[in-house]
Amino acid sequence: MNNFKALRVHEDGARLETLGLEELDAGEVVIKAAYSGINYKDALAVTGKGKILRRFPMIPGIDVAGEVVESGDDRFSIGERVLVTGCGLGENHDGGFAEYVRVPVDWMVAIPSGLSEREAMALGTAGFTATMALVRMEDNGSNPSQGPILINGASGGVGSLAIDIFSKAGYSVTALTGKAEQAERLRRLGADEVLLTSELEFGTRPLERAQWAGAVDSVGGDFLAWLTRTVQPWGNIAAIGLAGGML
Ligand SMILES: NC(=O)c1ccc[n+]([C@@H]2O[C@H](COP(=O)([O-])OP(=O)(O)OC[C@H]3O[C@@H](n4cnc5c(N)ncnc54)[C@H](OP(=O)(O)O)[C@@H]3O)[C@@H](O)[C@H]2O)c1
Repeated sequence: MNNFKALRVHEDGARLETLGLEELDAGEVVIKAAYSGINYKDALAVTGKGKILRRFPMIPGIDVAGEVVESGDDRFSIGERVLVTGCGLGENHDGGFAEYVRVPVDWMVAIPSGLSEREAMALGTAGFTATMALVRMEDNGSNPSQGPILINGASGGVGSLAIDIFSKAGYSVTALTGKAEQAERLRRLGADEVLLTSELEFGTRPLERAQWAGAVDSVGGDFLAWLTRTVQPWGNIAAIGLAGGML
């Protein structure tokens, strides 16, 4: 467990380094990492393009799946398969881009049997987020009979998984993407319609024709504003990202 590899970001850039456990942030449990996803935030963290990391040096990686190899808490024992997603991992606590990850036990979730570590991270934080959008929208009264759900940033991680998850839950999905070449893939994932951002008419009125029973937006900005003007009465918009910027 000592002398393992980790990607660490310093003020002057990211480097692959050899570390010892004592150099990781504190926690009751040590996980031998099997997989970690590469999320939007991770790219911002590693390239330094966004203020994601709260201190330097820091190991990025906002999620991880693997096996418990040390446990100071009887809720998890050695050999158990676990995952962590979010909770500040890879932002203010050393994250998943390392062979070993040490975390507070309260952040950990047991991986259900039937799901591999690889599958858990393929779904990852993006899949978890898209699923939470569905759960929250249904808590708020959404159901498939109300009409189509617009999914924005459709070719991205959150968008693609949201198309898959909402279509499998019985919703009619309209995918909005900037990439015409992705249209066929988005249809295969479950989109009934594909709209291109280049062909979108934003309109100028405070309320435009109500088209969507709900929406999952990971882009923000003008797109989110347009969604608020085109969603049906009582429709729900899950606003879960700002890939298009904050304005
Ligand atoms: N991944 C996660 O676990 C997660 C969790 C919670 C929140 N979020 C947030 O959700 C947003 C998207 O994350 P993601 O992981 O899905 O990212 P991603 O895989 O990089 O996808 C972002 C997508 O947004 C669209 N987009 C539109 N304007 C863009 C612009 N100016 N720059 C970049 N992309 C643009 C693009 O899709 P089209 O061309 O198809 O429109 C792009 O593929 C981010 O703000 C992220 O912080 C992500």
